[in-house]
Amino acid sequence: MALPSRRSLGLALLGASLGLAPLAAPAPAHAIMGGAPASAARYPWLAAVGSPIFFVRPAGQFCGGVLTRPDQLITAGHCVSMFRSVPGVLTVTFGRDDLTDRAGETVTVKSVRMHPKYRETSFKGETVSHHDLAVLTLTRRVNRPPAPLGTPGTARTAQIAGWGFTSENDLFNTRLRAATAPLPGDAACRRAYGDSYDPADMLCAGSPKADSCQFDSGGPLIANGRVAALVSWGYGCGKPGYPGVYARLASLP
Ligand code: ARG
Repeated sequence: MALPSRRSLGLALLGASLGLAPLAAPAPAHAIMGGAPASAARYPWLAAVGSPIFFVRPAGQFCGGVLTRPDQLITAGHCVSMFRSVPGVLTVTFGRDDLTDRAGETVTVKSVRMHPKYRETSFKGETVSHHDLAVLTLTRRVNRPPAPLGTPGTARTAQIAGWGFTSENDLFNTRLRAATAPLPGDAACRRAYGDSYDPADMLCAGSPKADSCQFDSGGPLIANGRVAALVSWGYGCGKPGYPGVYARLASLP
């Protein structure tokens, strides 16, 4: 076949945008680590965002997301920017402990609205996403409580949750996991990332003992019981001196 199919092209684009190209590359060190398996029932508003065209992961999962209204989910902008014109291929699954299960409910997506200031730069080869937020409107309402939203305030730690990689030796994690991560503050992130880190729309969390990683993007950072930010980017995962970077919800217009 002379031309790549739409599907393989889509997958290549998807992999590239998630920083996964080539998909067979070694996994980043660490992930939602320092954590433990978590029950989806504890996070009724937490969704796995995916697409059946992304068949390298069970449920086609590639990101997390947070229900903010019965028919509205927020996720990371970089997770869905390429689906702006084809929102119907996205799925959102709630209530699933392990992506290989059938449990929970899956809803399709009607539209994708990106943060109007979303843009990408780069830091040491990592894609840096600014205002990394998007709003997904679902094709139907779900009977679930929306997540409590808030700001981190003076919290020193936060909880993070996702179905992403848990370590270099565990590329195929499909289990929902959660960890408690320190909030080292804007100065620490400035030291790590310089101008790539903008405290106006970003928040730093994590240490070599607890961090998020690939496939956790769009998932929640919970401070004082409220979702304050979503997993966005980082230089590797769990690298000393390089906390994970999260998109502050307060940045959402
Ligand atoms: N961009 C990644 C995602 O898709 C998230 C990376 C988070 N990195 C970190 N060190 N916390 O899936």
